[in-house]
Amino acid sequence: MSEEEATASGFEPKIIAFLCNWCSYAGADLAGVSRYQYPTNTRTVRVMCSSRVDPVLIIEMLIHGADGVLVGGCHLGDCHYITGNYYTEKKIKLAKKLIEKSGLNPNRLRLEWVSASEGERFSKVVEDFVNEVKTLGPSPVAGKNPDVDKLEGLFVAKNAARDFRLRSLVAREINLTEKGNVYDKTISQEEFDNLMDSAIDEEMARQKILLMTIDGPYSVLDIASQINLSPEIVLQHIVTLKDRGLVVVDRFDGVMPLYITPKEEVLR
Ligand code: FES
Repeated sequence: MSEEEATASGFEPKIIAFLCNWCSYAGADLAGVSRYQYPTNTRTVRVMCSSRVDPVLIIEMLIHGADGVLVGGCHLGDCHYITGNYYTEKKIKLAKKLIEKSGLNPNRLRLEWVSASEGERFSKVVEDFVNEVKTLGPSPVAGKNPDVDKLEGLFVAKNAARDFRLRSLVAREINLTEKGNVYDKTISQEEFDNLMDSAIDEEMARQKILLMTIDGPYSVLDIASQINLSPEIVLQHIVTLKDRGLVVVDRFDGVMPLYITPKEEVLR
């Protein structure tokens, strides 16, 4: 949808803005007292540091119908908690990748640095983001007839964002690529990104299997054809999920085991 079409259709996006207490929230306050005009589409949530905004929370906002999510923090080097916003960058990078894999446009999420003295900049950031979301159009998962595939994709992405391996990779990215691990070894950013991408793909596949087998039981072949992966890869994921206690064998169809996820194991 072009900006003109969005304006003509009267679409007014719902945007959740998470703003850090020490910079962006104060910047928003300054924009208000300085009477800078900006669109009223945002609903603000004040957080103590932008690094507190978890990818799970961001995806949850999209599931519940937000058309866009804005995260605002202090400029790099100015975080009240010294290094918090360096981790914010990594978390937002993960959240964008997960949103894209779910089928939504990752530009529905934006990270901006706004200091307490940048009231005018805050108003421009909001205006610019609102216009961008207008051109993207209403969220496909909001409203009375949500796109079921994309909504399911967001549930899968949200559960993947809870995965311990993804979270620890995010937490260690700076050490692994810049400072060095306990042996003073670093890896290139490209190597790290490849590692992260394959970890995301694996976890998304596992979460899809869990979501499918909650309504099971299904064989490995059923699952493979449903989620477009080879039976060998699906079997590897099933073994991992069984080790984690997340899927169990429900019964056998001849010699073929059928797997099911006990409902309480899947967080929808
Ligand atoms: Fe503002 Fe950390 S306190 S980003």
